[in-house]
Amino acid sequence: MALYSEKVMEHFRNPRNVGVIEDADGVGEVGNAKCGDIMKMYLKIDGDTVTDVKFETFGCGSAIASSSMATELIKGKPVADAMKLTNKAVAEALDGLPAYKMHCSVLAEEAIQSALADYYQKHPEKKPAT
Ligand code: FES
Repeated sequence: MALYSEKVMEHFRNPRNVGVIEDADGVGEVGNAKCGDIMKMYLKIDGDTVTDVKFETFGCGSAIASSSMATELIKGKPVADAMKLTNKAVAEALDGLPAYKMHCSVLAEEAIQSALADYYQKHPEKKPAT
């Protein structure tokens, strides 16, 4: 059996939304101390919608595929949905990741969370009441 699903390979070979958003509303960078991989997410937010998202990932193939899939899952969606995106949902959308590669999808969840935290720090008035 192949180690990686077709979807993982496809997103690795042809990642969506790679790059930088110069005037991003929120930027988040996270890393995994063990493998040394780094992921950076840029969000453009208009009203309550994630209108654009781009990423830069210095990391393994699963991290690149996870970033790519995560951007696809939140682009054009409500900010509230992006807040709730879990690494599990990213891995499921990729038709699974090997157990020892699950942490790569965690990086995608954390990068989005970190970019949203940056956005809310700059726009505290937008922060949903908890
Ligand atoms: Fe660390 Fe994939 S091996 S993010």
